[in-house]
Amino acid sequence: MTTITLIPGDGIGPEITDAVVEIFNAADVKLNYETENAGLTAFREVGNLIPEELVESIKKNKIALKGPLTTPVGEGFRSINVTLRQMFDLYQNIRPCKSIEGMNTKFANVDLVLFRENTEGMYSGFEIFDERNGIADAIARISRTGSERIIRAAFEYARKHNRKKVTIIHKANIMKRSSGLFLKVGLEVAKDYPDIKTEERIVDNMCMQMVMYPDRYDVLVTTNLFGDILSDLAAGLVGGLGMVPGANIGEDIAIFEAVHGSAPDIAGQNKANPTAFLQSGIMMLRHLEMFSEADRIEKALFKTLADKEKTTGDLGGKATTTQFAKNVIGNLE
Ligand code: NAI
Repeated sequence: MTTITLIPGDGIGPEITDAVVEIFNAADVKLNYETENAGLTAFREVGNLIPEELVESIKKNKIALKGPLTTPVGEGFRSINVTLRQMFDLYQNIRPCKSIEGMNTKFANVDLVLFRENTEGMYSGFEIFDERNGIADAIARISRTGSERIIRAAFEYARKHNRKKVTIIHKANIMKRSSGLFLKVGLEVAKDYPDIKTEERIVDNMCMQMVMYPDRYDVLVTTNLFGDILSDLAAGLVGGLGMVPGANIGEDIAIFEAVHGSAPDIAGQNKANPTAFLQSGIMMLRHLEMFSEADRIEKALFKTLADKEKTTGDLGGKATTTQFAKNVIGNLE
């Protein structure tokens, strides 16, 4: 039986993790879970944000399902999420955003898959503060290799999943060298995929395009910061942050997680919507080629979401996190 590393995480993390494991068990998903802590929870327990046992567990199992981790704003430690992505070179951050039938959202036909470069750009971690002059600098490193591998991953995905178009998103008009390099590499890589339509968009225009005509877009590929922002925007198109999953994928290690954070405002209240985390789990099952289990759980999830009363408060329903999990289990066929 496959063993995965399960990281419940901070804030609402443990609540949504319990919900997902309960649903997986009810659906008879044959997985072993090696539970490890990270972030604030680990710090409180063992005085280490990224314990050695966690790193070893991920290296050994190669697959992890990770709850959200809190990162203090401004001062304090560096994001554990960013650190883990860089530590395991998880350069692909894949965030699908698809409308779910029966859900009351502004658009009914959104089907986007966003590929975000996950290890460089504005999140490279090169920040300098010149205290004397009150000036802060951040270096957005863009490399040819880093750009090429994420753009190629987006095109390969498009080809494999019969997608029609890849949109390269950039700000090459202003950041001519860095974002310009990303665009240049993108247009070069596109030549290897004549079967897929390629287009490019400047990121600010792309924001407007996505809120007005999301159905015109298909696979998107962009640098780290733009991808982070655009994926939350895309989440808003299909029901909000409680809905959308994400995968961080490298050469041989993959960590699946929801797009949302630890939601401290609702933590510990049994209010969180576990859908995004469950969808991340479903992505993980497909990655492990457990297709029938993934399809069965997804069907039960979509059936639950189509009945507003049975959803959580963020979707206008009345269910608690635990009740929502029971509703999904009740819909398993
Ligand atoms: P957030 O995503 O935690 O919350 C934003 C808003 O969405 C809040 O009102 C929250 O209640 C709501 N929300 C989020 N997930 C929800 C869910 N499953 N069900 C219902 N409502 C939900 O973003 P925020 O507040 O900016 O960040 C909180 C913490 O999470 C920060 O420390 C941040 O660094 C961290 N974070 C971690 C991420 C990760 O581990 N991958 C990703 C994003 C943020």
